[in-house]
Amino acid sequence: MENLKFMSTAETVKDSQYFIELEDKHGAHNYHPLPVVLDKGEGVFVWDVEGKKYYDFLSAYSAVNQGHSHPKIVNALVEQAKKLALTSRAFYNSKLGEYEQKITSLFGFDKVLPMNSGAEAVETAVKLARKWSYEVKGISENAAKIIVCENNFHGRTTTIVSFSNDPDANQNYGPFTPGFIKIPYNDIDALEEVLNREAANIAAFLVEPIQGEAGVYVPNEGFLKSASELCKKHNVLFIADEVQTGIARTGKLIACHHENVQPDILILGKALSGGMYPVSAVLANNEIMNVIKPGQHGSTFGGNPIACAVAVAALDVVEEEKLSERAEELGKLFRAEIEKVMEKTTLITKVRGKGLLNAILINDTPDSSTAWNICLKLKENGLLAKPTHGNIIRLAPPLVITEEQLLDCVKIIEKTILEYK
Ligand SMILES: Cc1ncc(COP(=O)(O)O)c(C=O)c1O
Repeated sequence: MENLKFMSTAETVKDSQYFIELEDKHGAHNYHPLPVVLDKGEGVFVWDVEGKKYYDFLSAYSAVNQGHSHPKIVNALVEQAKKLALTSRAFYNSKLGEYEQKITSLFGFDKVLPMNSGAEAVETAVKLARKWSYEVKGISENAAKIIVCENNFHGRTTTIVSFSNDPDANQNYGPFTPGFIKIPYNDIDALEEVLNREAANIAAFLVEPIQGEAGVYVPNEGFLKSASELCKKHNVLFIADEVQTGIARTGKLIACHHENVQPDILILGKALSGGMYPVSAVLANNEIMNVIKPGQHGSTFGGNPIACAVAVAALDVVEEEKLSERAEELGKLFRAEIEKVMEKTTLITKVRGKGLLNAILINDTPDSSTAWNICLKLKENGLLAKPTHGNIIRLAPPLVITEEQLLDCVKIIEKTILEYK
């Protein structure tokens, strides 16, 4: 009743405060959003409920690479929704096969297994690698292990948080799934040591080609190539989680391509749909994928006609608008421009990244609120970004950003940093 009264009074002002209070009261507090209520998006811009316009420098954690509400992707969604939305995989549908053909040929794999969220796709890859290791590699029952990296972020399911070392991600969510060995990120010697010791029982090495959530950590050049070669030598699958780095974000279709690495299992999500709809995918060749037989894995929504139509359109946009090339070129410009800003301030200690997945390090401790406060000021100045892990601010605009817009954003960042007290 109290709620109805609140909603029905004609004079209720539906401003940002109103929506923030509603979420605060009725939604679980599992996020700590910046205090801005978004109502509209187009290309690189979003607008809040008061009509203020911002550059989006988060892109929904790199899901909106093609820009907000890209007309081609919106059209694919609407037209397919009007025709046929969901069949389940109990039947064939007229969209799935052509989508599968497109994604497998684009990424160079025999087969794809369609899912919805990134975490589901990671779960799928873990299950696939384990099953392959028992049925093809010949590991004895329940002995398979997967090597993962410290400070990884692969999603939020119970199994995935079992191999996280972020207390926020796993504290009090145990008991955990066993069978994972953690090594430091970007440490080829550590990988080699584990493989030399116990490769016979190792199914896979699961890695983010750049650790996005951890703060955009780019490994040394050659790490991915050496890791994939070591895996091949030891008959261990190299699994690339490109949920955040894939779909042109880092200046190549997938970040592994920077080192000419073709993973054994590729995990995609986020921008596979242009952020329009949850679409994720696991890609592998027949020798691996064929271990999964009917009834052994699935999802009611995975591979539904809307998801397929949207993903085909989202991949078309990446190709037609040359988003990889744009990200590569504009990323270099962005880092060079931020380096010029760094000459005028001690507040930024480093800029790092690849393509348009970048981060700046703020000159304060990880538990300080400086990065958060800078993001509040950036918001006031018309640019939305979010700290990740304390003193790191990730900067990842939609890849459709123009050079002129990017330079405008650098000006906003410079002004904010130089004025910050
Ligand atoms: C590398 C990586 N893997 C998996 C995920 C999980 O994706 P989702 O949030 O769609 O479950 C994320 C999300 O940020 C990610 O960055």
